[in-house]
Amino acid sequence: MPGHTDEVWKTSSVVAVYLQGVRAAIPLAQEQIDIMLRLLAALGQPIRSFLDLGSGDGVLAAAILDRYPGAEGVLVDFSGPMIEAARNRFAHQNASVRFVNADYGPASWTGSVEKWGPYDAIVSGYSIHHQPDTRKRGIYAELFRLLRPGGIFINVEHVASASGWVASVHDDLFIDHLCHGRPGTSRAEIAETYYHRPDKEANILAPVELQCQWLREIGFADVDCYLKVFELAVFGGRRP
Ligand SMILES: C[S@@+](CC[C@H](N)C(=O)[O-])C[C@H]1O[C@@H](n2cnc3c(N)ncnc32)[C@H](O)[C@@H]1O
Repeated sequence: MPGHTDEVWKTSSVVAVYLQGVRAAIPLAQEQIDIMLRLLAALGQPIRSFLDLGSGDGVLAAAILDRYPGAEGVLVDFSGPMIEAARNRFAHQNASVRFVNADYGPASWTGSVEKWGPYDAIVSGYSIHHQPDTRKRGIYAELFRLLRPGGIFINVEHVASASGWVASVHDDLFIDHLCHGRPGTSRAEIAETYYHRPDKEANILAPVELQCQWLREIGFADVDCYLKVFELAVFGGRRP
């Protein structure tokens, strides 16, 4: 079993719990995708190419391909079980998707995706927060360079609460959502599992304001937090 780092995502059981129970329970999950699609539509021309960083089973990529069936997607992840789930998702679709098994921890990861760029859009869902802050900022700069001028980066992300009290309100909301999906299980049991989930230790949360500031410093325009409920944010910006 990998240690308490993002390596935990290479574990089949962690992937199964996430894909079978947690992903669908994320508060405002559909609204986050709707905002992502609205931002893409606002670019004013169909998305032809996109990259999904830390793509998991391809939930964000699928939403983009559903709206832009002609787009070419590059899905980057370093988890074998996640890539397999993504392959299964797209197996019977006529979509143009490439699966890249790469670790974006080292900056050299861009070498595996540059050849299909520059990209009209780069999206990421609940992934980059596993990196230390210096690396998060470095990744944002790498994504800036992978975008075509006018292209957009959208991060659907787990961010830091302003205080311990706000974090506890966030946790209660999340646990309530998990309870909706498991009517036969007690709230106490679900809360226990939530607080002791193996991937929790891999989270390195940063405030969304700080991350937006990094994006502006890198050169992104139109930077904003477009949607947020407690620790769940949709933020990003466009390459001018
Ligand atoms: C919480 S899951 C999110 C999956 C999907 N994007 C979603 O929105 O449901 C985090 C994903 O990021 C991937 N990941 C984490 N660290 C990574 C790294 N250093 N390189 C590549 N993928 C990584 C994990 O394997 C996992 O698939």
